[in-house]
Amino acid sequence: MIERPAESLNRSDQEFELTLRPSKFEDFVGQTRVLERLELAVEAAKLRGDVLDHVLLSGPPGLGKTTLAYILAEEMGANIRVTSGPVIDKAADLAGLLTSLERGDVLFIDEIHRMQKTVEEYLYSAMEDFVLDIMIDQGPNARSVRLELPHFTLVGATTRRGLISAPLRSRFGLNNRLDYYDRNFLMAIVKRSARILNVDIDDSGADEIAGRSRGTPRIANNLLRRVRDYAQVRADNHINRDVADRALEMLEIDRYGLDEMDKRILETILHKFSGGPVGLSNIAVSVGEETDTIEEVYEPYLIQEGYMARTPKGRVITPLCYERFGLKAPRSSGSELF
Ligand SMILES: Nc1ncnc2c1ncn2[C@@H]1O[C@H](COP(=O)(O)OP(=O)(O)OP(=O)(O)O)[C@@H](O)[C@H]1O
Ligand SMILES: [Mg+2]
Repeated sequence: MIERPAESLNRSDQEFELTLRPSKFEDFVGQTRVLERLELAVEAAKLRGDVLDHVLLSGPPGLGKTTLAYILAEEMGANIRVTSGPVIDKAADLAGLLTSLERGDVLFIDEIHRMQKTVEEYLYSAMEDFVLDIMIDQGPNARSVRLELPHFTLVGATTRRGLISAPLRSRFGLNNRLDYYDRNFLMAIVKRSARILNVDIDDSGADEIAGRSRGTPRIANNLLRRVRDYAQVRADNHINRDVADRALEMLEIDRYGLDEMDKRILETILHKFSGGPVGLSNIAVSVGEETDTIEEVYEPYLIQEGYMARTPKGRVITPLCYERFGLKAPRSSGSELF
């Protein structure tokens, strides 16, 4: 089975992620409400000897969608088959996949929003009635054949929930959105990872890394790895706040966890549009990114952290953002909207 590595991950990154990936509900930190719903659904399905309902997991990159898909299979005691939306390019590929499943198996389709429309339509009856109507032959001999499928669980993951069509979305019994992690959960993740990697870190060090992780476990783990290198060479192998701070300063990791695109978006509103209000499409053109990527991948974090806000007139920068950029909030800017 093909597992699509996230584009930005090289081989050693992938191995690193595997080592740190929790494999049971109890090791998964945070996302309390999502976890509660999933645990309940798993327990109920197991009690009834039933197959778990289809699950859609959405949310920005690195928050644990793939991790949860594997956990669901593990907790159900099921096999997992892994593929991704763009890889299934013909209905026949989908038929091949589905017919090779056994009852109860989990089929994980990553980036499900990138699946072809024609393939997606076949998925509807597969998900709903566990049948697949496929056309064989062409011209006058063309006929439709119905394949019975084993009852399976589809787990779909997407960073772009807005691109999932309504018919597909409605076929998922469990629809869960992952949110950015609070600092204390990220701190717990850093400490857990440090234990697994045998790294000596105290609470202050874990907290410093957590604060710069953009609410994202993947980033937290990657920063831990960088700080570990620094501690090994320059700090007797022990990580405290000071060591973490020095290491991350050296790597030019933003103190508040903002990445390049975050900063570009904020600076664009700040400088090109005098703090706003400005429409999303103007921001998108200025930073060279699609509107829905900005809306679903970047903005949620910036809004959650209080750097910008959506208003009826458009996006505005908040006083906090001026402060973080070392500027004074002008009296007559977007900030009067607060
Ligand atoms: N709740 C969590 N607790 C502990 N570690 C986590 C948690 N969520 C994610 N991680 C860690 O972060 C890494 C990235 O998570 P994962 O690959 O599941 O993200 P994703 O949402 O699938 O991202 P993408 O959209 O890029 O595919 C995992 O390898 C895991 O180590
Ligand atoms: Mg993933």
